[in-house]
Amino acid sequence: MIQKENIDKTRLPKHIAIIMDGNGRWAKKRGNQRVFGHKNGVKAVRDTVEGAAELGLKYLTLYAFSTENWKRPRTEIDALMSLLVATIHKETKTLMDNDVRLLAIGDLETLPKNVATQLSKTIELTSQNKGLSLVLALSYSSRWEIIQAVKAIALKIEQGEIQAKNIDKCIFEQYLNTQNFPDPELLIRTSGEYRLSNFLLWQIAYTELYFTNTLWPDFRREHLFEAILDYQCRERRFGQTSEQMSESINVNS
Ligand code: FPP
Repeated sequence: MIQKENIDKTRLPKHIAIIMDGNGRWAKKRGNQRVFGHKNGVKAVRDTVEGAAELGLKYLTLYAFSTENWKRPRTEIDALMSLLVATIHKETKTLMDNDVRLLAIGDLETLPKNVATQLSKTIELTSQNKGLSLVLALSYSSRWEIIQAVKAIALKIEQGEIQAKNIDKCIFEQYLNTQNFPDPELLIRTSGEYRLSNFLLWQIAYTELYFTNTLWPDFRREHLFEAILDYQCRERRFGQTSEQMSESINVNS
């Protein structure tokens, strides 16, 4: 197993995003209901968040519930929502103790009232924390996010506050839910699936992708460290050549 000590702390990604997948299969392998997998997924969330905070990561975004997940059986949705409320309530003290700030992205108005209330309470309570920002993507999808940004910009144009010819990357990003966060440098997906599932599609234009066969309930901080170490061995070129990248490193160092 990869040790934390092997990670170069001076080259940590600022933002890691995770598609937590495989809860259902994990439960099925054990002859259990899918909800059993989600409950065990919470243990993975706790350990990963602790590991991220311990390393000094700035942002960790977890895909906890997608817009498409509303199509799941009602019993599973209800169980997931109850689990969210219970977990956020139970973990608020741990977030405070570890200086973690909780944030959320997504169509939060569609969440059940008890989830929205608990979420806002914990977001408010942790708002002054300065360590890790833990971002929960809830009722989130990229296509929803991009369409709501387009609608908001169109309204500003109608009201004469923006001119269409002035719209650029910077203005567009101000209308995304992630407006205050850096783009993720690393995206992890568990469970051996090679898909992006409508997650942060705008923001991951130059993100390094890391896929692991580990099912989410088995994921622990060591798996996170392993992904970071893999990321640190990659060369990020942003459309430029290897030579250009090493020149700019030399100029800036
Ligand atoms: C994907 O596995 C997982 C989810 C849709 C839910 C993730 C939720 C948790 C880990 C619990 C609560 C989280 C927080 C942040 C408190 P899947 O059900 O699609 O698994 P499968 O692909 O094996 O069916």
